[in-house]
Amino acid sequence: MIKTIVPAELNEKKDKLRIMDQTLLPNEEKWLELDDPESIWEAIKMLRVRGAPAIGIAAAIGLYVCSLRSQAENVFEFGKEFEKIKDYLATSRPTAVNLFWALNRMTDRFHREKNKSIDEIKWALLDEAEKILSEDQAMCRAIGRHGLSLLKSEMGLLTYCNAGGLATSGLGTALAPIYLGCEKGYNFKVFSCETRPLLQGSRLTAYELDKAGVDVTIICDNMVSQVMKEGKIDAVLVGCDRVAANGDSANKIGTSGIAILAWEYGIPMYILGPTSTIDLDTPTGADIKIELRGEDEIGNSFGRRTAPEGVKAYNPAFDVTDAKYITAIITDRGIVKPPYTKTLMELFG
Ligand code: MRU
Repeated sequence: MIKTIVPAELNEKKDKLRIMDQTLLPNEEKWLELDDPESIWEAIKMLRVRGAPAIGIAAAIGLYVCSLRSQAENVFEFGKEFEKIKDYLATSRPTAVNLFWALNRMTDRFHREKNKSIDEIKWALLDEAEKILSEDQAMCRAIGRHGLSLLKSEMGLLTYCNAGGLATSGLGTALAPIYLGCEKGYNFKVFSCETRPLLQGSRLTAYELDKAGVDVTIICDNMVSQVMKEGKIDAVLVGCDRVAANGDSANKIGTSGIAILAWEYGIPMYILGPTSTIDLDTPTGADIKIELRGEDEIGNSFGRRTAPEGVKAYNPAFDVTDAKYITAIITDRGIVKPPYTKTLMELFG
């Protein structure tokens, strides 16, 4: 059975958030233990922990471990401190709805327990954070099973960014059907786009697939059309950071271009994500806030200048794939097909 790294979890004593610093991959596997709001915020912001579900898990555990340090003498004070940390962590990254979904779940749990003692509330918060993590593992497996039902052995599969184990607490979303297929002896040929500017595709996806013994080939992002034209791609599998009520789906910048190419070449475009990424409160993709990141990630990435000093760079971190280019959205609850406004509401409303 394939085992993936759990990138965000509690440490053994259950008093710190333990994350693998993904900015160092593939060169170094280094774990960090964090228990203060500033370092947890920084770890999410700087992508030490990243990928929509993992961000949510890190925030939930982070909120719990920070609340452990509270010196509040009554529940009212404790609640005020809790809200402050929650609001602060919510400012770390805007696009992945999982961050807000997880923080809201922790808050709802707090409110359900507010008539209990501070210690009892802390136990409840621990329980909620652990549930968020274990439910994510189960959701990944379910996504994998549904996704695999659409695939056959020997297929060429294209993926983008990292929607694997490193982005979740389980088998990932887009990579889950690949892992489950490999467990069954399917012989997939996976193409992983590098994913400029931060190279999640080559640094992370190729890393974890290769480690698991999956046949993976890296291509530069601008090679997708040629590789599709050569007939090497039978399906595109990507993750998502937020799926709007009409099916428009935000994912790593560059995904929407791949979807348009897949449409042109008649290749199925699958978006894979858990319930925690479906956001029926966001009507369309136009309502999704796209994170803008620093210019240095483009002109000075990985500590070396690749553009002249002083030249401007524009760096949106996500884009929205219009629902019309999406063949199906594969979730833990099942496979959703157009018309998405109706089918998403039926499954998640
Ligand atoms: O900026 P990142 O690395 O957090 O972006 C991640 C992605 O875009 C993933 O595809 C998405 O979060 C899905 S992860 C299961």
